Amino acid sequence: MASDEFSGNYMEKHRPSEGWADLFPGTIRTISRPSEGVVDLLTDNQVLLRIQVIEAGMVRFRFSPEGRFESDFSYAVDPDFHPEPPSHEVVEFGDGVAIRTAALSIRVSRNGLKTTISDAKTGKPLCQDDKGFHWQDNKTFGGEVVKMMKTYQPGEHFYGLGDKSCDLNLRGRRFDLWGSDTYAFGPDSDPLYKNIPFYIGMHRGGTYGIFFDNTFRSRFDFGAEQPNRTAFSAEGGEMNYYFFHGETPLDVTRAYTRLTGRPGMPPLWALGYHQCKWSYYPDAVFRAIGKGFRDRQIPCDALYLDIDYMDGYRCFTWDAERFPDPKGMVADLEKDGFKTVVIIDPGLKIDPEYSVWREGIEKDMFCRRQDGNLAKGSVWPGLCHFPDFTRPDVREWWAEQFKELVGDIGVRGVWNDMNEPAVFEDGTFSHDIRHDYDGHPCSHRKAHNVYGMQMVRATQEGLRRFGDGKRTFSITRSAYAGTQRHACAWTGDNVASWEHLHIASLQCQRLAISGMSFIGSDVGGFIETPTPELYLRWVQMAVFHPFFRTHSSGDHGDQEPWSFGEDTTSLVKQAIEMRYRLLPVIYSTFWQYVSDGTPMLRPMPLVAHRDPDAYWRSTEFFFGDHLLVIPMTRESEEGRFLYLPDGDWFSYYDDAKPKSVRKDIWVDCPIDRIPVFVHAGAVLPHWPLQQYVGEIPHPEPELRAWWKNGTETSRWYEDDGDGQAWKEGVYRDSTITLEGSPTSLHLTRQWTGSWTPGYSKIRLVLRGLPKGWEALTVQADGTTIPTAPDEDGNPVAVLPHGFKALMAVWKAGVVPEPAAETETAATV
Ligand code: NOJ
Repeated sequence: MASDEFSGNYMEKHRPSEGWADLFPGTIRTISRPSEGVVDLLTDNQVLLRIQVIEAGMVRFRFSPEGRFESDFSYAVDPDFHPEPPSHEVVEFGDGVAIRTAALSIRVSRNGLKTTISDAKTGKPLCQDDKGFHWQDNKTFGGEVVKMMKTYQPGEHFYGLGDKSCDLNLRGRRFDLWGSDTYAFGPDSDPLYKNIPFYIGMHRGGTYGIFFDNTFRSRFDFGAEQPNRTAFSAEGGEMNYYFFHGETPLDVTRAYTRLTGRPGMPPLWALGYHQCKWSYYPDAVFRAIGKGFRDRQIPCDALYLDIDYMDGYRCFTWDAERFPDPKGMVADLEKDGFKTVVIIDPGLKIDPEYSVWREGIEKDMFCRRQDGNLAKGSVWPGLCHFPDFTRPDVREWWAEQFKELVGDIGVRGVWNDMNEPAVFEDGTFSHDIRHDYDGHPCSHRKAHNVYGMQMVRATQEGLRRFGDGKRTFSITRSAYAGTQRHACAWTGDNVASWEHLHIASLQCQRLAISGMSFIGSDVGGFIETPTPELYLRWVQMAVFHPFFRTHSSGDHGDQEPWSFGEDTTSLVKQAIEMRYRLLPVIYSTFWQYVSDGTPMLRPMPLVAHRDPDAYWRSTEFFFGDHLLVIPMTRESEEGRFLYLPDGDWFSYYDDAKPKSVRKDIWVDCPIDRIPVFVHAGAVLPHWPLQQYVGEIPHPEPELRAWWKNGTETSRWYEDDGDGQAWKEGVYRDSTITLEGSPTSLHLTRQWTGSWTPGYSKIRLVLRGLPKGWEALTVQADGTTIPTAPDEDGNPVAVLPHGFKALMAVWKAGVVPEPAAETETAATV
């Protein structure tokens, strides 16, 4: 598992040989249009550039130094993405060729095929080639090392690239993509577990994204090697990249996920709190963990079994002594509101007594070396063979293995580990291992970065097949672009340190803008024991991470919410309770991710993208449309400076308004909560506290509406929380518009979908009304509704569930001048 050595040595071992020359395209000789939306440019030295206009703001560039392409195949591109080519024109001019769409103007130079891509509306360049496409013949393996070099635009900054642990802004750094088992990684470790070759560039001229769809080991350089140059390359395959243009950076992520896909709705319980450890066993211990939650009334929805539930780490088996009755145990826990999630690894123990391995051998399911020998490697059970998940029949076979676990025993989620793939001897598979790559046979050099993705794809199919119509839930450690269609993910083996709390925040934000919003870290740290304060601060942040799970390596102190002393337990409980009250907001934000690819976590630089002061900010992030979250990432921090983007803000907790300064505002940070701000005008649905999703069959929602002198819209998504009916439109997706004035607040609500709620009333709380308000009257759909104050004095009205319009009117009161000291910092 410790693979620092592996990642460190890799570059040295596999550096392309000295003396390979860079080669460049010559001069355009022919221009042809093989199909609608496609333009082929062929040079006099047989370099073919194929430009495909996919959408007005999405264009694909594909280069071949051989004048022809191999068959077009991608694991990343969503098979359901089939847009019609938009209207565009192709014009030849003296120096080259221009292609224009409503959003983009692309000019390709006659000599060297260098492109300049500009915003069609403003005429400003978005992205320009420097050396452009070039390559080296790969004398060791055949094919080419393919390369691209572009120039920085004035004031350009870069974000994305999935699983990286450094600061959000990638400017001045270089990276490798080669999925690696990186136990105890640090802020500069690279590569890590996941391979997402997608980044966003932002500069004064606009915003764009590039997705380099190449699964070989790839490299990205944002001005580290040569100042003001961006480069990306891969050790084989094609120079094949997609360019996306968006009005905003979040639009670019949306476009990227149109291409690479989005997940389905998760079961709602998957958004609750999850508890894990390596390992809970035997069954009495596992059950006791469940009881620990219920006894203390700390909400929890899922409990995890790590590798020790298996018989000698043989996947799809149970240790009969530790778990004599898995089905009974899973059923009992389920009755008490817990879903059981189990781990699965790709390595299958070489053991003639082990039926899954025997069947794998009989059916020839395992990867082979180049001369036809089976590939072997050691993982937890000892020497193993590894399924070739890039073969459709192997994925099918793997999916069938879940019949007992999921179909019979009732396991509700599967955790896919070690799927980079990790191998103890050499870190991963040797290069010469063969893969089918869905009918495009290749070596591990090409399949490595997608191996884990194909494993979790097969697992998801198993869950679907045997899950009795329920929504699937699987998590993965490794990923390639597009994995978001198949799984949730976690950030791997982190450490219980303040630095890692910060890294977890960076990783989750970065993965979210790279298409993988369903992400979380091992809360509290996997390695070593967190202090009570560290654990608490981590939980408080992870309340706002889509996947919320405590996990630890188990070879140190306990890491359950009650393991850190009574005071901490009650504060951790309070934070988890906040998560459960916020579940409707989290679910609605997930829906926005599913329906239009909007990242659930939104880094400050991408939201405040017009303000260069925000470009290096990493700590604060937005959860959904209206919440700004400020994690506490330092020990004993009693307050901190933060950046508030333009707009009116309230403290989420007590409606305090920060003073008008937007940047470097100081907030106090008491230990019982981290600062969270809410947009004025937001309308956020909350649930009553439950110990697990479904404890209250039809929870009566509370809508909290924060007054604004202006207009704001909010989304609220509801459905059954599981099952497939949402795909047929059985949901209620409400858009709520708040319009406020100094003496009124008006809500209008429209929804799509055919879902009918099981509750009949909604509790509406009006928050942040101008000080001194009096004589309030409230009408819902024309009927006067009485109000009563809540414990903070905010007016509460109980409305019919289907209300469409609400009008609240009051008289402005006389407000005394605030005393000078109350005007200083925000308290939260
Ligand atoms: C490595 C994983 O990253 C970790 O989460 C897990 O607990 C161990 N493998 C044991 O299965």
